[in-house]
Amino acid sequence: MDLAALLDRIAGDVSADIGRGAVADYIPALARVAPRRFGMAVAEVDGSLHGTGDWEQPFSLQSMSKVFTLALALSHGEGVWARVGREPSGNPFNSLVQLENEDGIPRNPFINAGALVVTDELARHGDAADALLGFLRAECGRADIHVDPEVAASEAAHADRNRALAYFMASYGNMRHPVPSVLDQYVRQCSIAMSCADVARSALFLARHGVRDDGTRLLDSSAAKRINAVMLTCGTYDAAGEFAYRVGLPGKSGVGGGIVAIVPGRCAVCVWSPGLDARGNSVAGVSALDRFTTLTGWSVF
Ligand code: DON
Repeated sequence: MDLAALLDRIAGDVSADIGRGAVADYIPALARVAPRRFGMAVAEVDGSLHGTGDWEQPFSLQSMSKVFTLALALSHGEGVWARVGREPSGNPFNSLVQLENEDGIPRNPFINAGALVVTDELARHGDAADALLGFLRAECGRADIHVDPEVAASEAAHADRNRALAYFMASYGNMRHPVPSVLDQYVRQCSIAMSCADVARSALFLARHGVRDDGTRLLDSSAAKRINAVMLTCGTYDAAGEFAYRVGLPGKSGVGGGIVAIVPGRCAVCVWSPGLDARGNSVAGVSALDRFTTLTGWSVF
């Protein structure tokens, strides 16, 4: 299959959706991104890379970072699963409502509450954002991957909801480190700037059943399968059912407009377009992945 030509075709097919939706503005620095951007990259397990549009333009990783921090936390053992569940929340990504009825245990690692717990767990082994940067730089072979300081400052200045989530969990004994330190690491992990090409290459270990770019193993194949399963059921929040229905792949979105999706055994895909739907997922991004699985037949179903 000529993937480069296929991606160009998909960019054309979804052109009516590019610019639709709203750019995230609850983090002011994200609101400054031009809405009519679109990029898509596919990294295959043999190392080949294909892209279209703005596929080499860095954008804010945001919640896509949660896949990588979960993988890094699990590389140290299964302890995180005592502190966070694996069920879809059916609620928005920054919702507080379930925590009180569920003893401060977040439903899953991809809603903000769950990701804060994962960051806290990873912080037992050193700064979580630094660990994430080290991993991402190694996987995509680029030493210049960095935290965008403007996005990080903007996010830190508008983090009251996340702060509330973290303190609420701390009141249940589900935070090991001081909340300000966990929040700082979480904000920096979300503010990493990367392109679709970088993200697709960095996520390839999930298509390779846990094996990294250098051939070493980050996770065993069961752990990699489980991350993919949680991405499928929880990766797009209260739209996870719709995403599975339309795309049929494990996927994780971010409010920067990126979505990373995995075709186990074959490739990792990253698409970026900043216009979001009401549930925080890229409108053109979901459409592009829908076209991708339709045209290739590469869904997990
Ligand atoms: O914590 C936040 O609200 C952001 N740093 C990340 C949220 C996000 O990307 C949700 N995904 N669609």
